Amino acid sequence: MQLDALRRAFLNHYHTEPLLIVSPGRVNLIGEHTDYNEGYVLPGAIDKTIAVALSPSGNDTCEVHALKLQQTDRFQLSTLTRGEGWQNYVRGVVHFLLHNGYQVQGFHAMIDGDIPIGSGLSSSAALEGAFSFGLSELFQLRVAPLELAFIGQQAEHQYVGVRCGIMDQYANIFGKRNQLIRLDCRSLKHVYYPFQFPDYRIVLCNSMVHHSLASSAYNERRQQCEEGVALLKKYHPEVKTLRDVSQAMLHEHIREIPPQIYMRCMYVVEENERVLLAGTCLQEANLEMFGELMYASHTGLQKQYEVSCEELDYLVELTLNREEVIGARMMGGGFGGCTINIVHRDGLEDFKQYMTSQYEKKFHRVPEIYVGQIVEGVHVVD
Ligand code: GLA
Repeated sequence: MQLDALRRAFLNHYHTEPLLIVSPGRVNLIGEHTDYNEGYVLPGAIDKTIAVALSPSGNDTCEVHALKLQQTDRFQLSTLTRGEGWQNYVRGVVHFLLHNGYQVQGFHAMIDGDIPIGSGLSSSAALEGAFSFGLSELFQLRVAPLELAFIGQQAEHQYVGVRCGIMDQYANIFGKRNQLIRLDCRSLKHVYYPFQFPDYRIVLCNSMVHHSLASSAYNERRQQCEEGVALLKKYHPEVKTLRDVSQAMLHEHIREIPPQIYMRCMYVVEENERVLLAGTCLQEANLEMFGELMYASHTGLQKQYEVSCEELDYLVELTLNREEVIGARMMGGGFGGCTINIVHRDGLEDFKQYMTSQYEKKFHRVPEIYVGQIVEGVHVVD
């Protein structure tokens, strides 16, 4: 991304040197739809980023210009309300900083970035992190990292209307170069696992599908998990979330739980087990088994949790007979966006060509393919 161009554009417009923030998107190797069930996830920050240039405005006014979209949002801190579309990620963050007692002042901001929107790489958490962290730095608010993640999540819940978990914001804030984050979404403690396999690449295949029902279906899945918990609680009062549920417990109550809810819950319980196993695989450098877990995760998301789509399934299916591919699965909330693949570097070019031509033949659109590096979380650029 052209950081220097952003800096110059800001300088030209506001005649002052900005504070520059780089805020990454995220990948998730395994552990999907587990975060809001207090389970485990394995994300990392990636080198698809949003950059924000910031300076104080000197009064109550905030002006936010999105360079790519050529749109500007203006609002006053004293009369802050919800806006539209992307504005709510920024406004929501400002609202919750103020709500938590931080003395945010008016500011000017310019946004640029190269995270494809709606691709499941969490451009939304990157935007939230850019502003929560950026404003904290700009006005020396000293907001703790975990609180920054919660502020982003609150913005998403209350301003955008998606009841997301904490994974995306957490990865954006706590990301470390070449390290995956195994986060326990109950204790909110994490351990880093190095992802340093010199022969392998993390490759994202963008289906270019952006499902418009994604956020309502997302909230519905969350609701179904809560329904499962409410039913199990009657027999097991100690159950607070699906984290407290085992496969055996679900089997035991198969007759009391509606089949669809049962399937959703079973997926989450199994996926948590897969994340723990995947961690062990990384420690033992057992990529083969790691890959199998990724495929199993995809099957669960497709058949039990039902958040995949034809295009994502096809992208995963295409990899099954490819020697260079260790594992593949849909990634993120679902209904479109990217698949994540682990691919041997020697087969990378063949892989790209094969995926592109086969996908284009079937769906008449060209998938974008990115090779992702695991990078540092949101930070100030010197
Ligand atoms: C979205 C949400 C996350 C998480 C994933 C699914 O990215 O923002 O909190 O629930 O979907 O794993």
